[in-house]
Amino acid sequence: MNILKTLVATCIGLAAIGTAAAQDLKIGMVLPMSGPFAAHGHQLENGARLYMQQHGDTVAGRTIKLIIKDDTGIAPAVSKRQAQNLLIQDKVDVLGGFGMTPSAFAVAPLATETKTAMVVMNAATSSITSQSPYIVRTSMTLPQVTAPIASWAANNGIRTVYSISADYGPGHDAESQFVKTFTAAGGKMVGSVRTPTQNPDFAPFLQKAKDLHPDAVFLFVPAGEQGVAAIKAYKERGLDKAGIKLIATGDIDSEDVIDAIGDAALGLITSFHYSDAHDSPENHQFVQAYTKAYPGERPNFWSVGGYDGMHLIYQALEKTGGNASGEALMEAVKGLKWMSPRGPVEIDPKTRDIIQNVYIRRVEKVDGVLKNVEFDKVEAIKDPGKA
Ligand code: PHB
Repeated sequence: MNILKTLVATCIGLAAIGTAAAQDLKIGMVLPMSGPFAAHGHQLENGARLYMQQHGDTVAGRTIKLIIKDDTGIAPAVSKRQAQNLLIQDKVDVLGGFGMTPSAFAVAPLATETKTAMVVMNAATSSITSQSPYIVRTSMTLPQVTAPIASWAANNGIRTVYSISADYGPGHDAESQFVKTFTAAGGKMVGSVRTPTQNPDFAPFLQKAKDLHPDAVFLFVPAGEQGVAAIKAYKERGLDKAGIKLIATGDIDSEDVIDAIGDAALGLITSFHYSDAHDSPENHQFVQAYTKAYPGERPNFWSVGGYDGMHLIYQALEKTGGNASGEALMEAVKGLKWMSPRGPVEIDPKTRDIIQNVYIRRVEKVDGVLKNVEFDKVEAIKDPGKA
């Protein structure tokens, strides 16, 4: 009898150890995997999975499982439902992804209610991190990537600008930061307009800009097809021939669309936190590994947001010894620093937002391939949208 008891006890003990050793840690990502931003959802997932391939799926004794749910793009009700599914059915420990601002806004209250860490890996409206104390961001904010191009314009002979930006959070942020920085440096705005988020026709907006004849048009459009359409319309309306420059944040010509824009992109000046042409050993390794894992694809800022998002979760779990509670993870991410493929980055302990270099780039052909070649930078910039 005693032997039987001992055996049973040993089995229970072993089972308990077994469970502890293999305890899953589920990360649930809400991303646009279909619809107009689907390519970007896939790029973010690619970045996250590449990180796991390189670093293994076990951290601090826990096995990482990634679950992806499609929110189809700008569709806050779908994002919220998918996050609820992740939390209730899949019982995820950490929420991640979040390509689009409305998606992050819709899910923030759920992170607060359930005290779950929410790692925003792309959505870039400044105020997102203030929507919940459980949010941390590994991508960028629009004010952060916009201020440098506004300063660059003012310092490079551009005196008057017309602003065109997408009519939702990141576009509003881009426009207001551009106006703030550019006018503070002595520049003058001749007008601004906001474009629909779905399939905008840029021609009338660019015609208006042409009629006002500013030195430059500043443009923010969310990454993807809109960038291709906007640059095409800028050329077709003859703004370049009229001597009106085009300046933008790097959302407009990221690596996934730059080939579709083609030579029309040559000479375009943008500011951004990531280019696949960034010259550092970390980025060379990243680009090489990415193109090997996903032949025919180039990593873009969504890929890096996902890659760094996983890095942040892994580092935080190492610090907490595998404790994935929202409180523990949020404490652990504050002040984290690492060398990203984009350059040095850090999580601001006050805002849980990312501090990083923002680069000024010019589109050039490098070995026959269109690239955003960095030629200037603003170092370690905090989100100016929070000032
Ligand atoms: C956003 O919705 O926050 C967003 C999407 C695409 C971008 C930038 C920001 O390129």
